[in-house]
Amino acid sequence: AQPLRLGIAGLGTVGTGVVKIIRRQADLLEKRTGRRIEITAVSARDANKDRGVSLSSYAWETDPVALAKREDVDIFVELMGGSEGSAKDATEAALAAGKDVVTANKALLAIHGQALAERAEASGHVIRFEAAVAGGIPVIKALTEGLAGNQITRVMGVMNGTCNYILTRMEADGLGYNALFEEAGRLGYLEADPNLDVGGIDAGHKLALLASIAFGTKPNFEDVVLEGIQRISLDDIHQAADMGFRIKLLGVARRTARGLEQRMQPCLVPAHSPLGQLEGGTNMVVIEGDAVEQIVLRGPGAGEGPTASAVVGDICDLARGLRISTFGQPATTLEAAQPARTGLP
Ligand code: NAP
Ligand code: HSE
Repeated sequence: AQPLRLGIAGLGTVGTGVVKIIRRQADLLEKRTGRRIEITAVSARDANKDRGVSLSSYAWETDPVALAKREDVDIFVELMGGSEGSAKDATEAALAAGKDVVTANKALLAIHGQALAERAEASGHVIRFEAAVAGGIPVIKALTEGLAGNQITRVMGVMNGTCNYILTRMEADGLGYNALFEEAGRLGYLEADPNLDVGGIDAGHKLALLASIAFGTKPNFEDVVLEGIQRISLDDIHQAADMGFRIKLLGVARRTARGLEQRMQPCLVPAHSPLGQLEGGTNMVVIEGDAVEQIVLRGPGAGEGPTASAVVGDICDLARGLRISTFGQPATTLEAAQPARTGLP
């Protein structure tokens, strides 16, 4: 079989993680997929930065759009981030040039996912984004493949590790929100725009994608009811604990008689429940289906290895010829979700 040739745009935390796995596991990946997976070209802003991994055997492109269009690239791997600008332009260019796309970019997909999926479909290509939701947890694969026989009734979860880290440290160490927000920044946990994390926006993007896959609807981030963790006080945390609860930034998506309800808000969860026992930067997704009843998936939602693991999983699916859309059904058959905001308590 012909080798599968990757063009990787973005060589930060996730991009270098992907390069390392592809280099380290080249033989194993070939054995598992039946195709040699090779990197042909890469792109980032700074060509001189030491990224802790050798890039000398790959062509360098300063412009990710040029990378996306290269003839020696079969799959465009977008790991730059951002919902507009280079990530969007290069993804569109890749689809127009007849490439499949693998990305970890939840912001791009929560906002432009439907349009991009329709473009991909029109050209007979796919856009895969397992890493965009809950990092290393293969939750999209679980929904689209393992749980394909179910009507999904509810998905919920903790999908922002930074918020869970701040909330669990407030509880365990009695430190206030502001001190822990600063600490999370020092530790490099916060997104470049920290409001994406603590304002619940990043987790809201992930919920909108998950809801779309679970319920066969178009991603609808605008209608996620959003509330961040900025106003949670130590008093709130202690009062919750006195009643046997913990506070989590919890996302819930379910179909109701009034439409699709999507909420990402601080919630009280019973301390002894699986969600209530979730510590630190870990993620958890709970899926309920009419046949399976309930499953709980738990694991690292961020970081180099876990996120790159999910990206490489998507690449391996494409290498094996598994070309099902990440949305689990054709983008043109997704229904517009009616938001169920009005009248909710
Ligand atoms: P990052 O460390 O900030 O890396 C971003 C990379 O993109 C950098 O290498 C940067 O180049 C490059 N880049 C940015 N703008 C560019 C442009 N216009 N042209 C060329 N290169 C450009 O980001 P990350 O944490 O790896 O995240 C990448 C994506 O994965 C994002 O969509 C993020 O939301 C998603 N994600 C991340 C995690 C995580 O744990 N980090 C988890 C899940 C999903 P320079 O290095 O030269 O500046
Ligand atoms: N900022 C995100 C988090 C990164 O803390 O979960 C992974 O998407």
